[in-house]
Parts: sequence; C-alpha cells; structure tokens
Amino acid sequence: MTFPLERPARLAVFASGRGSNLRSLVTAFPSGDPLASVVLVLSNKRTAGALSFAEANGVPARAVPFGSDRDRFEREVTTLLGAFKIDLICLAGFMRVLSPAFTARYAGRILNVHPSLLPAFPGLHAQRQALSAGVDASGCTVHFVDAGVDTGAVIVQRPVPVFPDDTEAALAARILNEEHRAYPDAVRRVLTGRAQARAGTLEVSA
Ligand code: GRF
Repeated sequence: MTFPLERPARLAVFASGRGSNLRSLVTAFPSGDPLASVVLVLSNKRTAGALSFAEANGVPARAVPFGSDRDRFEREVTTLLGAFKIDLICLAGFMRVLSPAFTARYAGRILNVHPSLLPAFPGLHAQRQALSAGVDASGCTVHFVDAGVDTGAVIVQRPVPVFPDDTEAALAARILNEEHRAYPDAVRRVLTGRAQARAGTLEVSA
C-alpha cells in the first residue's frame, strides 16, 4: 500500500495508558474528515484511559491483553486490523515491543511518538535520561516503526528547552504538549505522501 490513498485513511491507535496523544489524533482526524479518521483504539490494558476516552467518543475500542504470548497477541491484533480495514497504525504510549514479523508486515504503516529527540534517549524514561545527561534541550519525535526500539526513520521532531530546575514531571508535560502537535503533523505527512516507505526502505522527504 502506498500513500496518498484516494479515500480517507482508516487509523488505528494503540495505547496502554491515559491516551492524551489519542485525544489529539481523534481531534485532528474525527469521523468524516476527508484525509483520515481514527476508527479503532486498541489497548493491551483493559483499564487504560485511552479505552474509556474512545468509548466516550464513539470510537470502537478493543482490549487485547498481551499476557505472556506475543504471537497470540499479534495474531489477534492482525485479525482486528483486517476486520477494521486499517491503513495506518499509530502507537501512542503503547508499552509493548512488537515483533520483527509484525513490524515487517506493516512496514511504512506504523508510527510511534517518543518523548525525546531521537536518536538521543531511546527506550524507557526518556525525560529522566535527558535530565541525567544535563542537556539544555530535548523534545519529541514521531517516527516510522521498524524492528528496533525507537530506531525507525524520523518524520517530525519538535524541540523544547530543558531548564536547570526542571523536574521529570515538568519536562514530560512540556514535551507532551509538543507531542500533541507533532503527531497529527506526522500523520498528515505520511498520508499525503511527504514521508513514505519505498522498496522496503523508509524514506522521508521534506
Ligand atoms: C507519551 O509521552 C509518549 O511519548 C510515550 O508515552 C506517553 C504517552 O502519553 N511513548 P499519552 O498516553 O498519549 O498521554
């Protein structure tokens, strides 16, 4: 599949937590939007705020517990993605690593948001890593997902300052604010063909 499509794209958002990025994506791509709509929210946690938000806003929501069997989880998810005819997957605070087989199957069609300026500070606690490193700027990155952890091609980054007296919570809030702008922007770039996957290689154009 290559973007742009000749119809509105169908987005799935995968979220494990409160779902503030989900909210920004639903706001940017509501039902009936000509470019895209969020048509499925999936969580590995039944109690995730993201699921309640989806239900309250009329977006189909599904919990698929991860358990200890990633293959089973990914088979169930693949079935759901097919049933909902999903074009693009947006990971938004989804706290599980997907298998190389899964990321290859959806290559160029999975995005993630990460709270640092990658390649700096990949993995968990990116804001804490930034404070420990003593940097004076950090930010957020939206990138394509490949088989690595936070290693895929970068689509959009937005910087924020880091202040000497910052707490992890204050820095996280400042970065989150930028995530909410960066994610819809990145989705638009992908869906309009400005950032795309070609012949198995991910390429980003200006
Ligand atoms: C965000 O900081 C995101 O960058 C990280 O997890 C957090 C999710 O927040 N991957 P929310 O659930 O979207 O509010």
